[in-house]
Amino acid sequence: MKAVAVFPGKREVQILDHPEPALTAASQVKLRMLEVGVCGTDKEIVAFQYGTPPDGCDYLIIGHESLGEVVEAGSSGLREGDLVVPTVRRPCLNTECIACPAGRQDFCYTGEFTERGIKQEHGFMTEYVVEDERYLNKVPASLRPWGVLVEPLTIAEKAIEQVRDVQNRLPWKKAPGGDIGTGHQAVVLGAGPVGLLGAMALRVAGFDVWVYSRQTPGDGRAGIVSAMGAHFLDAERTPVSEITSSLGHTLDLVYEAVGASSLAFEFLKALGPNGVFIFTGVPGRKAPIEVDTDLLMRDFVLKNQIVFGTVNAPRSSFEAAVRDLSIFAGRWPDALSRILTNRIPIDRALDPLSGKVAGIKNIITL
Ligand code: BGC
Ligand code: ZN
Repeated sequence: MKAVAVFPGKREVQILDHPEPALTAASQVKLRMLEVGVCGTDKEIVAFQYGTPPDGCDYLIIGHESLGEVVEAGSSGLREGDLVVPTVRRPCLNTECIACPAGRQDFCYTGEFTERGIKQEHGFMTEYVVEDERYLNKVPASLRPWGVLVEPLTIAEKAIEQVRDVQNRLPWKKAPGGDIGTGHQAVVLGAGPVGLLGAMALRVAGFDVWVYSRQTPGDGRAGIVSAMGAHFLDAERTPVSEITSSLGHTLDLVYEAVGASSLAFEFLKALGPNGVFIFTGVPGRKAPIEVDTDLLMRDFVLKNQIVFGTVNAPRSSFEAAVRDLSIFAGRWPDALSRILTNRIPIDRALDPLSGKVAGIKNIITL
């Protein structure tokens, strides 16, 4: 079967023929992959900056954002034809780890976890995949057009779950029986897929949302932002130093989704009392920059601020992503579809991977 793979040793990316997997345990399920998203991590892997093949193999099949269809259900509770999205990270086997045995490999202590399509396990950019039932999340058939967005949405879902936990420590305005965002202001940095999906999730959680990004003519990011009832802040016209004055208030939450540290540290200054700043992007290492650390540290302390980073996602976030995606599909189906810029057959997979195809989220179809 066809697969898109990277050979880090000889620095090559190929669409190759890989043996079709078969079920070897009762708890396993065989999937026909339908769609696989291309993200920044994939582009870094095919640029040989990242990515480790499984032990004993000289290539790694890439792809970790996926939507599959069950073709053999084994003894699982799933049925043939069910749509599923697999999680990405698999637990480490180190007995010292507290997180992995608890099913929270997203918080692995040892770093010895594996990740499908990224670290020591083949990914999903191929025709068939076998996976253990416990790593599969069922997606309703109605979400077929957007199900491939579940995985990138889990980043925001895990972040919001943590915001609920940390803000529980203080008096924080909440609608009766309602959600954490009501009456609070959030800024999302970046209008890529992680930013736009994060903005939608924050809207559903009740936040007033501003998305700070450069205008990219033609791909309609600003339109997607206004369709979800959020505000587009044009980075070219609104210097970070004027954020608080142009919004008229400080920020309760900043969701960073660009991986640009200089921008992020500028925005930290706009964080208000009891505010939360969330890092999701992974910047490449560049030359050091100057940051006013006294100012930031004073604010952390005197304003009770919290800054946290978040990576990967547990099963609960996949379940939350499926629920939220149904809400997005009900409220903003058009905006949601516009995030999916191009659907490209596997034979042309190298175009979006090498950046030859622009757009918000490019999808490989199988
Ligand atoms: C994936 C995560 C993964 C991270 C680091 C991201 O692109 O969505 O699941 O943990 O890369 O490898
Ligand atoms: Zn990703």
